[in-house]
Formats: sequence, C-alpha cells, structure tokens
Amino acid sequence: MKSHRKLSRALAERVGWDSGIGPFLLKKLPSKTGWSATLGSASVLLFITMFASGVFLAMYYNPSPDKAYDAVDYIMTKVPAGKILRGIHHWGASAMVIVVFLHMMSSFFAGSYKKPRELTWISGVVMLLIVLGLGFTGYLLPWDLKAYWATTVSTNIPKDIPIIGEFLSHLALGGDAISGSTLTRFYAVHAMLLPALLVAFVAFHIYLVRAHGIAEEEEGATAGDAGTERSEAPDQSSDERPYRFFPEHLWRSSIVFVAVFLILLGLSFWAHIPREEVAGTRVDNYLPRPEWYYMWLFQLLTLFPGRFEWVGSLIIPFTGVALLFALPFINRRGRLGATNRPLPLAIGSSVIVGIVYLTFMGFAGAKPYGETIRVADRELSRTEKRGLFLYADRQCAYCHQINGQGGHRVGPDLSNEVAKRRSADYLAKYIRDPKSVNSTSIMPKYDLPDADLHALADFILSLDATKSSSRIVTKAQALGQPQQP
Ligand code: HEC
Repeated sequence: MKSHRKLSRALAERVGWDSGIGPFLLKKLPSKTGWSATLGSASVLLFITMFASGVFLAMYYNPSPDKAYDAVDYIMTKVPAGKILRGIHHWGASAMVIVVFLHMMSSFFAGSYKKPRELTWISGVVMLLIVLGLGFTGYLLPWDLKAYWATTVSTNIPKDIPIIGEFLSHLALGGDAISGSTLTRFYAVHAMLLPALLVAFVAFHIYLVRAHGIAEEEEGATAGDAGTERSEAPDQSSDERPYRFFPEHLWRSSIVFVAVFLILLGLSFWAHIPREEVAGTRVDNYLPRPEWYYMWLFQLLTLFPGRFEWVGSLIIPFTGVALLFALPFINRRGRLGATNRPLPLAIGSSVIVGIVYLTFMGFAGAKPYGETIRVADRELSRTEKRGLFLYADRQCAYCHQINGQGGHRVGPDLSNEVAKRRSADYLAKYIRDPKSVNSTSIMPKYDLPDADLHALADFILSLDATKSSSRIVTKAQALGQPQQP
C-alpha cells in the first residue's frame, strides 16, 4: 500500500501534476456554468473523432483521379466497418460545423468576447474558418460529379479579385482546371495542413480560456471586471457542490458529445451518403450543388448575377469575416449576458435568420440564374427562338453569361462568340462534345439532334456584345416557345 502511494507520488512529480495537469484538471469553474459551456469541449471531442476516423480512412484512400472514386467504394463495401467509419467522418463534418457555430453563437450572445477575451474570440473565428476549410477540401476527395462541380464553381470565385485573382485560383487548382494536381493539393491541405493548424489553435484557445476564466455576469458588473477569478476566492457558498473542470464539466461535455456521437452512428447506419458518378463523367444539364453549410453562400451569389457577382462572392463574405474579427473592438462596453444586450441580440438573430433563409431558398431549388436572358433587340428567327428555348431549358446560364448578365461565370460570355469569329459549325460541334474541340474542357456534353445544336449556334451568333441594342426576355417567355425547328 505504501509503495503504491510512493509510486503514484513519484509519477505525479515526473508529469508535473502539482504545477500543471493537476490544477488544470481540477480547476473550479463558476458554479453557474451552464450546459452551453460544454459546446467548446464537445467540439474538441468531435475533432478527435474526426481525426481518428480520418486516419483510418486515409489508410484506404488514394488521392489520384483514377483511384479515388474506387477507393471510396472499396471503403464502403469491403473494409470492415468501413461504412460506419466513412459515415462518422462524413456526418461528423456537418456536426462539427454545427457545434462550432453554436459555440460561437453562445459566446456572441453572452458577450464573452469582450475585454480581456479578445484573443480568445479571434482564435475562435480562425478555428471556424479552419473547420469550414476542412469541409471544403474534404468535399472534393470522394471525386464524384458533385465534388467536381462544386469545386469548379467555388474555385472560380477568387477570379473576381483584381490582379491576384487568377493566381489564387491557379494556386488552388494546381492548373487551369480541376485535375490530379487539385486532388493531391486538397488532400494535403485537408489531411495535414489544416488539422495541424487546428491543433495549434485549439491549444492556444484552451490556454486563453484558462488564463481568463469563463465569462460570467454578476449583478451590475460590466465587461471589464466580470471575468475576474472568483473561483479562487474562499468559497462563500461552501454548501454548494464544487463544479470543477474534471470530473464535473468533462462529464457533462461527454454527455453532450456521446449524444452527438450516437446521432452520427445512427446516420452512418441508416442514412445514405449522397454519391454520384465519378468526376469527369459527361452528363447533360448538370446542376452543381455545394455542401449544405455552404448553400447560403451559393444562394447569395445568385442574388448578384452578372456584373455584380463580386458583391455576393467577395464583398459580403469578406466583410462578414472582417466584422467577426473586429467584433471585440467594435463592441467593447456594456454588460455581458444575452438578455442585457438587445442590439447584439437583434443583429445576431437577423444574421442567423438570413443564413437559414438563404439555405432554405438554395434547397428549394430557387434558381434565379437564367431567370432573364438578354437577346438581340429584333424579331428572332424560328431557329433562333428554338435556340433560345434550348438555352433556357438546358440551363446554359448555370455557367454562361450573356452581355455580362444573367448567369454564373464558369464559362465564357456567349455574347463574345461573334467577336471571336466562331462559325455555327464550330459552336454546334463544341456544344455536342466540348472535349472534341478542347481537350481540357470542363463543359458537359449535350447530345442533342443536329438541328437543335445548330439552333443553339444560331441563337449564340445572334448575340453580339459589340452591338448595344438588346432586350430582356424572361425564362418563362423563352420556354413558352418550344416549336420544333
Ligand atoms: C457546367 C458548366 C457549363 C454549362 C452548364 C455549359 N457550359 Fe458552355 N462552357 C463551359 C466552360 C467552362 C467553357 C470554357 C471551356 C471549356 O469547355 O471548359 C464553355 C465553353 C462553351 C463554348 C465555347 C466557346 C468558345 O468560343 O470556344 C460554347 C459555345 C458553350 N460553352 C455553349 C454552351 C451552351 C449552349 C450550353 C447549354 C446548352 C452550355 N455551354 C452549358 C461551361 C459550361
């Protein structure tokens, strides 16, 4: 018995129990610490889960364009418990975004970013961005059509940035379009760079949380003194049970985590992970869709079609992130606690409502792209009308603009084809099989009858950006003229 105690004493000395781990684990937290404070530790536990499942997935995954897709199939069908492993990793990504977001929201509403916790908040914002980056880079790895197109659309966005835009997009893709280099890049960033950064920031964040204590609102207290260490003071209410980090808080956090984990487990058993054909498969009329937590951004883009796309794709997101970083310096005074802060409460709630609204709109399939189409300001010929119908029906506007408007800028503006001196035959050939003209093409193939291909070509050649007169027809009008050529 005695030697046993001696050994544990010696071990405690070796690991620095008294000066480090011990006080860290057994630290008393404010007795009012609520359940919302468990979101932080629950995020860390989730991250550990993602890390562990990711390591196992990496054992079977192969980041090359001709192997990645099959590797995922192999994991799903052959690897023991592979389906569960991938399910947990797949659904866990969403859970992580949700938990981290909720954690941030509760800090926002509680006002706990105020002095002296500015850095704690800022490191939290960085971690939110890292988690979103993990989701973004991970989305490409299954290498199916969905992954391919979502990445194509999003890596086109930086092109709106003046001067360095092309360079940034090139840097992300490792070339002009998605290829094997993109896949290895995304994999390296997803599996090495971002997790390492996240670990560093988690450590820094936890250190800061400890250094400043949990923010709590006292009667009449203001931001400056609300966070002073009260737990060190002699217990006034010694009848209350102590609330320590270990075991009380960790226990509570584990309950939250286990609840989340059980949901993930359930999903990986019973929910189907959306899976499409392998990237590069040619399909007609493909509609790119992002991961759900990016849907609101995607939807935001559609509110600023054409020339003003950069407002939705760059200005709003960048301003949003800048405001998040600046928050502790903008809103310095005033009390803590959600109920004492009507203005931040109102602003925060409106932002959340906006995001939820845009997300729903995105999923409701509202597609303002191509709702209006610019055509030449004259009576269109029969084939041009047919071409207009096909343009609307096949949703070319999903990737093309006309006169800088009405579509998403994935491909070239189609009102420049006349200036580029394209012939009708060239255009027809291009639309039927883009790869036959341009081997690096990413445009889907449209296997239409010859007459239809020429109708599209005629329509495109009727557009000419150098001629100023054009009029607008709505998609409904365009679709109301489905005469056969
Ligand atoms: C998913 C995106 C996407 C869709 C949908 C799409 N395109 Fe394209 N298109 C592109 C891209 C990107 C290019 C540029 C080079 C390439 O092929 O990758 C392009 C190039 C073209 C070109 C060649 C321009 C030139 O001068 O070489 C034509 C013509 C064209 N598209 C017409 C159409 C038509 C008509 C439709 C609808 C039936 C359509 N596109 C649908 C992405 C798309």
